This record gives sequence, C-alpha cells and structure tokens, in this order.
Amino acid sequence: MSTRIVEGPAKAALNILAEDDITFLHSLPKAELHAHLNGSIPLPTLRILLEQYQPDDLPNSLSKDVIEAQIRKFEEGVGLNKISDFFSLFPAVYALTSSPEASSIATRAVLDDFLEPGLDGHPQATYIELRTTPREIPGKMSRREYLEAVLKEVEARGRESAGLIVSLDRRMTSEVMHECVGLAIQLKSEGRPIVGIDLCGDPQAGDVENFKPHLTQARQAGLRLTLHIAEIAETSPDEHRALLNLGPSRLGHATFLPPSIREHYFGHVSVSEDAPADVITMSRRVADKPCVEICLTSNLLCKTVPDLQAHHIRAYLKNSHPVSICTDDTLPFRTSLLGEYALLLAKPPHGLGLSREEVVAIARMSMDSRFI
Ligand code: IMP
Ligand code: ZN
Repeated sequence: MSTRIVEGPAKAALNILAEDDITFLHSLPKAELHAHLNGSIPLPTLRILLEQYQPDDLPNSLSKDVIEAQIRKFEEGVGLNKISDFFSLFPAVYALTSSPEASSIATRAVLDDFLEPGLDGHPQATYIELRTTPREIPGKMSRREYLEAVLKEVEARGRESAGLIVSLDRRMTSEVMHECVGLAIQLKSEGRPIVGIDLCGDPQAGDVENFKPHLTQARQAGLRLTLHIAEIAETSPDEHRALLNLGPSRLGHATFLPPSIREHYFGHVSVSEDAPADVITMSRRVADKPCVEICLTSNLLCKTVPDLQAHHIRAYLKNSHPVSICTDDTLPFRTSLLGEYALLLAKPPHGLGLSREEVVAIARMSMDSRFI
C-alpha cells in the first residue's frame, strides 16, 4: 500500500476542497505521463534500500550518513532557489539504486505508488508512462541490465496500465545517447513495453545539435518523442525551433516558449488576460499539437513560475492547446497526482479555480495523449 506524503502547494489546495470535490477528482480516469523513476521513489522504499546498502569503491558510492542526511532533507522538504539546485538532489538516490535488484525494488514501489490504492483507498493514476535514464555502473550493472530490471516491473502491470519511456540526459555523450536509443529500439522490437524517448536533465547542459541525430533515429524507428523544452528563460529560440522541428508528440513544461514560436508552430494567438479558457473544445484537437505535460508543483518549487496565476498553463488553455497534468518528481516535490488535480480545481490563490467540466476535459486530454 502506498504511503505518499503530500505537503506544500498540493496540500494547501487539497485542504480547501470539499469532500465532494475530492470524490469527484478520485472518480476521474487519470494518466500520469511525466514521472521520473528516480525522482518518484517513496520515502519508505528509500529507507529499505538504505538498510540494504553497502558502500563500495565505485564512483557513485556515498557513505550511509550522507544518504541518511539527504533522505531527511526529502522528508522535511528540500528548499530550491533555482532549477539547477534540483539536479544535486539525485546522487544520494542513485547511490541506492545502483544494482538491478535495487532498481527492481524502486520501480515496483513507484508503480505501486501510482497504480495501487493509497491510504485514502484510491489509486493515483489509471495509467502511467514512467520514464527513466539508462544507467551503467561498471562491474555492477549495464544499461541493458538496468532497463531489463525496470521493464520486468512495468510489464507485470500490463500494457493497459503502464509503459516505459527511455530518457536521454542532456549531459550524455553522443556515444551514450546512441547506445540508449539503440537499446530502446531493440527492446521495443522484441515486444517490450517501451513507448517513447524523453530528453531530460539540466536544461543548461549539452548542445541540441548533438541530440538531434539520436532523437531523429528514435522517431524514425517508430518511438514517440517527449522533450523537456523551454524550462528556463535562458534557452535560445534556436534550441526551441530545433526541438520542435523533430516533431515531438509531447513537450515537458514548455514554460518559456515565446509567443512568436507558439504562434508559428501551434497557431497560438495572443489572448487577453481575462479571455476564458477553451478547454472543452480542445479535447477534440489533441492530435493537432504536441500535448504539454504540466507539472504545477514542480514549477512552483523550482521557481520557474512565480505563482499559479502567472502559470503558462493559462496561455495553453486559452489557445485550446492540449495539456496533461503530471507530477514530475513526487519525492522532492512532495506531491501526488490527486494533489496536482486539486491545484486545478481549488479557488485562487490556492489553485487555478477551473470548473469541474474543465477538469474533466483536462483529464480526458491526458488519457488521449498516451503513447499507446
Ligand atoms: P531517472 O531518469 O529515473 O534517473 O530520474 C531522475 C532524472 O530525471 C534526473 O537525474 C534528471 O536528469 C531527470 N529529471 C527529473 N526531473 C527533471 C526536470 O524537471 N527537468 C529535467 N530533468 C529532470
Ligand atoms: Zn521532468
């Protein structure tokens, strides 16, 4: 049974909703389309992995004390001043998931957390596309072994419940990206439930020209693309255009895509602040435009948006652009999929104050934007 902890913005939104609103949110079929495996491990599972952990001489090894201190920070809530602080949270988690056995335990716990009923008696999601970066630990685990361990757990849920997206980290060398895409194509051709390729990692790292050939190869082999894009204001319009020209099916965050680029690629028009959202008609248009995976708490805590009223979801909704509501990393962000939906329904300033009809349409868009 899941033991998820919800704090911060999601908790505040849940707290102001009526019991009937929560029942309504539980009743919606919901797809989680943007969840990073190593960012979504439940705290009790990290503690179990820590008990089994034996430090060694390998480069990613850390002392038990250092990992314990990081787990305590996750429990108390990590303070982030900027998005780059976020990527320093992962070494402690990676130290604990550095073998196929530990990766299996972590994957099973994440899938349970999303798909099995929690303490409230309800599952978070009807369906999940979990994503993860293939990792190699010399002498302990190859990238293929890592993916095999994760895939076995995903397969156990059935294709109607779960699929796997292989993430390419922007810090990878071209050689490693090539290996990861090759593995994804091969495993998919063997009938394994790999549904797409993600581009993720520190948005300030890497060069889009190096990613392009690998993402193109994946797309040509029939893998759908979801790309973290425009997470920070500093990313150049050339990078936005290069990524959009690859024909992604979905986009992660898309926070700082300038109106001119949104107009050119998606036909967006500038709309006044008070224009009503057009979410009802938009469910019919899902196939037209890449669905934007929206992670409200993640954006608030990473400070890429100042508050919900200024959140870019409003610009996408007003332009009838498909969106899906996702958690990103439940471990550092201490949220849940229910909590993210609560942020849609709760009245400002704790939420966006959307109507139930609008929330139903958004949940349906998430289900319609699955890669299966
Ligand atoms: P993993 O791919 O299962 O190892 O999940 C953790 C990894 O996901 C991190 O090391 C980051 O590379 C990536 N990640 C998690 N959240 C974000 C995000 O919001 N933006 C970009 N990359 C992210
Ligand atoms: Zn992400």
